[in-house]
Amino acid sequence: MAFYCLSMASHCLSKLTGSVLFLVVLLFFEVPVSFSGPPCDFPAIFNFGDSNSDTGGLSAAFGPAPPPNGETFFGAPAGRYSDGRLIIDFIAQSLGLPYLNAYLDSVGTNFSHGTNFATAGSTIRRQNTTLFQGGFSPFSLDVQSWQFSQFKARSRKAYDKGGVYKDLLPLEDYFSRALYTFDIGQNDLTAGYFQGMTTQEVKTYIPDVLDKFTIVIKSVYGEGGRFFWIHNTGPFGCLPYVLDRIPLTAAQIDRAGCGVPFNEVAQLFNAKLKETVAWLRKELPLATFTYVDVYSVKYSVISQPTKHGFEHPLVACCGHGGKYNYNMHVGCGGKIKVNGTEVLLGKSCEKPLSRINWDGVHYTEAGNKYVFDQISNGKFSDPPIPLRMACHKLVR
Ligand SMILES: *[C@@H]1O[C@H](CO)[C@@H](O)[C@H](O)[C@H]1NC(C)=O
Ligand SMILES: *[C@@H]1O[C@H](CO)[C@@H](O)[C@H](O)[C@H]1NC(C)=O
Ligand SMILES: *[C@@H]1O[C@H](CO)[C@@H](O)[C@H](O)[C@H]1NC(C)=O
Repeated sequence: MAFYCLSMASHCLSKLTGSVLFLVVLLFFEVPVSFSGPPCDFPAIFNFGDSNSDTGGLSAAFGPAPPPNGETFFGAPAGRYSDGRLIIDFIAQSLGLPYLNAYLDSVGTNFSHGTNFATAGSTIRRQNTTLFQGGFSPFSLDVQSWQFSQFKARSRKAYDKGGVYKDLLPLEDYFSRALYTFDIGQNDLTAGYFQGMTTQEVKTYIPDVLDKFTIVIKSVYGEGGRFFWIHNTGPFGCLPYVLDRIPLTAAQIDRAGCGVPFNEVAQLFNAKLKETVAWLRKELPLATFTYVDVYSVKYSVISQPTKHGFEHPLVACCGHGGKYNYNMHVGCGGKIKVNGTEVLLGKSCEKPLSRINWDGVHYTEAGNKYVFDQISNGKFSDPPIPLRMACHKLVR
């Protein structure tokens, strides 16, 4: 049985009775545990990831996500693949920071409290196809980490010029005090399937994906990053775009309607990611790592939707046709030409607030809010520490 101790609360480290009490608290009251340390006061967030946390990157590079994306919260497309906010938006908001602008967005952006390097379709490993061939973003995680290094170096120079730059760029010490968030890996796993690999073949390359992930974490650490908040990957076997594209037998579908082999692969990736994070914690002792089990939260709400106020968890709110209201040729916001006139086929559903899945690939604002509410208090984290305390090192 492991127990944790907040490193800044020194009495906790030295007093055995304190530790035993702590253990008892953990055993009987479960997590979340309330800590007595001061909240972290993160001045900025630097995010790395895929569409689950893209706040405008792919839109800036390749053209905007179409309406009705953004309809629920922003009232217009806002670079996000959702009807509203993403988990990263709720993270920023709860830390008292503005929503993150995309690094690639060259118009009207403000990076004074962080930058978002995530783009939809990003993978950890470089893919050997372009966006137009395989559908994956050219901004793989290694590219995102180069962008981060550039951002750090160049923003320092620009900040020193003064003027408006001082109001648009982070202070130098923000880089060592910021929260570094990661939500990436799902596309590496689906990439193999979409190329026709078997589940066994996909499993075989997971260690290579995590090796590449490790290189990037070390690079960000080398740039001075210290506080890491790492989401594991979700149950992509519950997502229409996978279920629709890769046929399974009835025996491979679970009671929630999700694809068992896909979710097994996601869980294997997550187990290895958790080991990788534990290893990084030892390798990089000056850093603090929080591994967040987003998978469990997403799977539990998809498998028991009514309990949490949702319905039709496997059906896209915004889409067109079929069992899952998902069509890979006509996506959310997709139009076709009928007799020379454009007709919107990928329409939104009536009650996005009661739906989990937005467009067959991504979550609704309501779904994202649900996940955020579950993960922010540390209940799904290893170690079990709340978001606002994620700068504190917990010692076993
Ligand atoms: C891309 O090709 C190289 C060289 O063949 C290979 O080593 C690498 O694993 C490939 N990447 C992916 C994601 O398949
Ligand atoms: C950038 O955002 C920060 C925080 O919201 C704000 O204080 C600052 O004035 C903004 N800069 C500009 C040029 O608007
Ligand atoms: C397109 O125009 C043709 C000729 O006017 C008409 O017969 C047909 O029903 C129209 N199709 C649709 C889908 O409106």
